[in-house]
Amino acid sequence: MRALCLLCWAVLLNLVQACPDPCDCGEKYGFQIADCAYRDLEGVPPGFPANVTTLSLSANRLPGLPEGAFREVPLLQSLWLAHNEIRSVAVGALAPLGQLKSLDLSHNLISEFAWSDLHNLSALQLLKMDSNELSFIPRDAFRSLHALRSLQLNHNRLHALAEGTFAPLTALSHLQINDNPFDCTCGIVWFKTWALATAVSIPEQDNIACTSPHVLKGTPLSRLPPLPCSAPSVQLSYQPSQDGAELRPGFVLALHCDVDGQPVPQLHWHVHTPGGTVEITSPNVGTDGRALPGALAASGRPRFQAFANGSLLIPDFGKLEEGTYSCLATNELGSAESSVNVALATPGEGGEDVVGRKFHSKAVEGKGCYTVDNEVQPSGPEDNVVIIYLSRAGPPEAAIAAEGKPAQQLSGMLLLGQSLLVLFLACF
Ligand SMILES: *[C@@H]1O[C@H](CO)[C@@H](O)[C@H](O)[C@H]1NC(C)=O
Ligand SMILES: *[C@@H]1O[C@H](CO)[C@@H](O)[C@H](O)[C@H]1NC(C)=O
Ligand SMILES: *[C@@H]1O[C@H](CO)[C@@H](O)[C@H](O)[C@H]1NC(C)=O
Repeated sequence: MRALCLLCWAVLLNLVQACPDPCDCGEKYGFQIADCAYRDLEGVPPGFPANVTTLSLSANRLPGLPEGAFREVPLLQSLWLAHNEIRSVAVGALAPLGQLKSLDLSHNLISEFAWSDLHNLSALQLLKMDSNELSFIPRDAFRSLHALRSLQLNHNRLHALAEGTFAPLTALSHLQINDNPFDCTCGIVWFKTWALATAVSIPEQDNIACTSPHVLKGTPLSRLPPLPCSAPSVQLSYQPSQDGAELRPGFVLALHCDVDGQPVPQLHWHVHTPGGTVEITSPNVGTDGRALPGALAASGRPRFQAFANGSLLIPDFGKLEEGTYSCLATNELGSAESSVNVALATPGEGGEDVVGRKFHSKAVEGKGCYTVDNEVQPSGPEDNVVIIYLSRAGPPEAAIAAEGKPAQQLSGMLLLGQSLLVLFLACF
């Protein structure tokens, strides 16, 4: 009985006075405060009262914040963690703190941060992350922070900022972002424009400067000269044969993606065939058509040869290569894509295009020619269909292109995006 009562007493005492050993807990102005600053702590101590609203762990030696680090104190409104040795903040460390209004993580070593946790901190008004090692902020990092008034990101390693990063911060009045090693390429121009126009106070503008490229080193962003910048554009054309030669089995299909944009866009090809999807980072071959070292080709000549000049050659084009060919160009200002469907008709068969429409062979002037059924005219740009008709092996003069023009001359007309249903007649 006596022992039981001791236990009751201990539980009661714990409820009333719970506070981790190294900390001081107390109440002030209706706030429940836990002060654990300057205690040489290497972890968040357990045992806080659940109603703590202010927690200071500043100037300790915390190496990181693991998931659930503040599970005991879900009502926190202020969390001070400056001057620790925090390198990483794990996913789920901060997300439970839905009431948090002030968060100070400044003067740490943070390079890995669970940005997605910020999506749950919609009450946050002050976020200090200055003097860390952040090199990257996801575009949507601040999307829920509609109450945020002050954001400090100065003295980090940010070299770029995604366009629109600060757009969700409708209550923001103070942004500190000086002393980051900004890379002054086209991708940063939006920030200069935004910073000049916004009502947000941005101090130390002269220290918001370029670190690279070399010629702009030290130039404040506000004085950045106009850069030649343009989003990518692409124009896809093709040539079924180099010299108007007969279209026989085993010919080379050449697609060409004419890319514009500044900085020079990165080009990718996406090939969707019934056998699967192939994604190619261009180039994958050298000018000799041989696989570049490190390219994912078995060896020798890959099935799809993407050249640095924007051409994609498909040697031995056959039924297995039928499908949709897309070229996609991307630079820091955007991307552009153009696609073409390529179908193959073989002698005597007619066929079906990749969209599943049938076309038939017809007899023209007593010769066996292939033509397209009138019912399968394309109806929109998404219907760019190129149907390649193969001739039977025969004398070269037997092959002609549509309207009797050599294929080579035709290729100039074959700019896709014009809803052209292109037909090559091969008569025999
Ligand atoms: C927090 O809880 C303790 C008991 O655990 C109580 O004494 C104190 O008044 C509470 N403080 C607030 C601000 O609610
Ligand atoms: C987000 O915060 C709310 C309280 O505002 C909480 O109930 C919820 O569990 C939190 N979400 C996560 C993922 O922790
Ligand atoms: C690109 O280079 C390849 C290989 O050198 C060549 O076959 C092709 O014709 C070139 N394309 C253009 C548009 O010059």
